[in-house]
Amino acid sequence: MIDIHCHILPGLDDGPANIDFSIAMARAAVEDGTQIIVATPHVRRDHKVDPAGIPPAVDALNAQLEADKVPLRVVAGAEVGWREAADMTGDELRDVTLGSSDYVLLECPYGKSPADIEGVIEHVRAAGLRIVLAHPERCPLFRGDLDRQVAIVEAGAVTSVTAGSLAGSFGERVQEVAFEMLERGIVHDVASDAHDHLHRPPRINVALHEADLALPGVSDHAPWFAVTAPMAILRGEEVGEPPRVARPRRTPWRRVLRRN
Ligand SMILES: [Fe+2]
Repeated sequence: MIDIHCHILPGLDDGPANIDFSIAMARAAVEDGTQIIVATPHVRRDHKVDPAGIPPAVDALNAQLEADKVPLRVVAGAEVGWREAADMTGDELRDVTLGSSDYVLLECPYGKSPADIEGVIEHVRAAGLRIVLAHPERCPLFRGDLDRQVAIVEAGAVTSVTAGSLAGSFGERVQEVAFEMLERGIVHDVASDAHDHLHRPPRINVALHEADLALPGVSDHAPWFAVTAPMAILRGEEVGEPPRVARPRRTPWRRVLRRN
């Protein structure tokens, strides 16, 4: 599998504090079936990550992985805050794409205040780049207005949902939105958005199997969500139409059970 959203670089943002913890994350990822991770530290005012520091940190981590015989390759990327992206030049944006592709991983806002996401996307596109929306299912602005997200996807953006959202780790509401997105065919990629090896681990496969409990069969699509789509993204290719996963019908007794 390929994980295009993972905070695995040590000491840069709110990911692992040191390289030992990065290696622990790498081992957890390998155990789960991941072979490639895109390191995506926050490029956001509150984290003060210098994008120029990302490629050397990736090289150092790959050297340590090789020395420790951990079969994982890390490539450079970033998770760019939506506000920060609006202020970046084309060259600055090109420096923080996923791998050597032309896709920018754009962090969606977590607040409820109005945000001109479409304007930011347009700004990135004007630089000749493409968009992967990071965990839109966790963005309150889309929750009550999924049509807005559909419109953004129809205009060419692809989405990357957090595996834990499908498993229910971010609550029932976020899980419901993620399931609705699956039903409407607007989930292209599933990534870990891991920050450590314990609480938010890089285990896409495990999370998809946990999600099977609420949405039976969703893990059958792991090859698309965690191989086909991320591979297309890293190659800078068009991501095709993703599978649609229908939600099971809610029976009244099931609603009662969920309430308790
Ligand atoms: Fe993230």
